[in-house]
Amino acid sequence: MDAISVIRAKRDRAELTDDQIDWVIDAYTRGEVADEQMSSLAMAILLNGMNRKEIARWTAAMINSGERMDFSSLTRPTADKHSTGGVGDKITLPLAPLVAACGAAVPQLSGRGLGHTGGTLDKLEAIPGWRAQLSNAEMLDVLGSVGSVVCAAGAGLAPADKKLYALRDVTGTVESIPLIASSIMSKKIAEGTGSLVLDVKVGSGAFMKNLDDARELAATMVELGTDHGVRTTALLTNMATPLGLTAGNALEVRESVEVLAGGGPADVVELTLALAREMLDAAGLGDADPAKVLADGSAMDHWRRMIQAQGGDPDAPLPVAREQHVVNAAASGVLTTLDAYAVGLAAWRLGAGRARKEDPVQPGAGIELHAKPGDEIQAGQPLLTLHTDTPEKFASAIEALDGGVLIAPPGTPFTPAPIILDRIA
Ligand code: URA
Repeated sequence: MDAISVIRAKRDRAELTDDQIDWVIDAYTRGEVADEQMSSLAMAILLNGMNRKEIARWTAAMINSGERMDFSSLTRPTADKHSTGGVGDKITLPLAPLVAACGAAVPQLSGRGLGHTGGTLDKLEAIPGWRAQLSNAEMLDVLGSVGSVVCAAGAGLAPADKKLYALRDVTGTVESIPLIASSIMSKKIAEGTGSLVLDVKVGSGAFMKNLDDARELAATMVELGTDHGVRTTALLTNMATPLGLTAGNALEVRESVEVLAGGGPADVVELTLALAREMLDAAGLGDADPAKVLADGSAMDHWRRMIQAQGGDPDAPLPVAREQHVVNAAASGVLTTLDAYAVGLAAWRLGAGRARKEDPVQPGAGIELHAKPGDEIQAGQPLLTLHTDTPEKFASAIEALDGGVLIAPPGTPFTPAPIILDRIA
């Protein structure tokens, strides 16, 4: 077996054999297949695709590249959620303690933001003292004692994906349905959760820009999960506009705590409860009432214990950026567009995200939204507040917003799109 014959096969639109897939994933993980060869194969896959049989084998090979976690010692059923990534997507923060408070164990291995999408670990690291890196034993310990844990995946979990994802990120090969599906599902299956709910984002701020592609991605992942004995469902959710009223690490923690305190923006509450119900159903806990658990303060109690178990101080003041700049509405009318990609890019330029994996993020940087699509706007009213420690970034952030905020004449009929667009089971 050699890399060139595998690349040529996919370049010429052939179906890869099981042996070719097993070999190329194993040889790449060991360093025998070079980055430039894998990057060429990833581009051939992006352009020519893989069928369901190839995707299943590719996923299995990535799972087999590392360890599998074992939660069989837990007495509660395990339930996990994975989002394909968006702007202002802080849902994991209220969701994990909420579902734990309803009786499930929630092992949430999360990632960092790259590009315009935020990462859950970056958000939680805005909390003074909070630690993302746990050993497998520590993770199991927090899961057993608190019921939910949010932490970084250990180096032993799907190492083939770690290498391949970093390569795809710098070679323009992220946006491939077979590669995204196998990347996400190899980690989730190796993690060993009993059930999984996928939040597949659709719209300008997501990898999938249209519903047909999102449906295909969701169906592929649901099939992969089900074939590996993980009860898997997916919600397709709107990422045309940011979720909630904040994008940026500490700003999103503040908003999540508002949700746990019984307030917060309606779209964040709606999606948190919808995903909680899906997770509880899949875990066999369909009788629990997450709305009641959110309202009675038990989810907040779990949040505080979860943060403390990882060294964080839930009462410490959150970091605030040194400088603010308010963007006012240029005209009166109905806000019809607040584009998720434009807001995500602007927040990233303000310092909320990173260009390279090793870059630091500014915990206080980001954007507060003062209106959402469908709202009536008066000329001159504040629309957005930009936050940063590096005010020289304001100009490029404002440039990123150009064309992303549209106001129609007063009285123009406009119905905002729903948050939940479809469900795949
Ligand atoms: N998230 C992942 O883990 N992998 C992808 O390929 C895309 C999003």
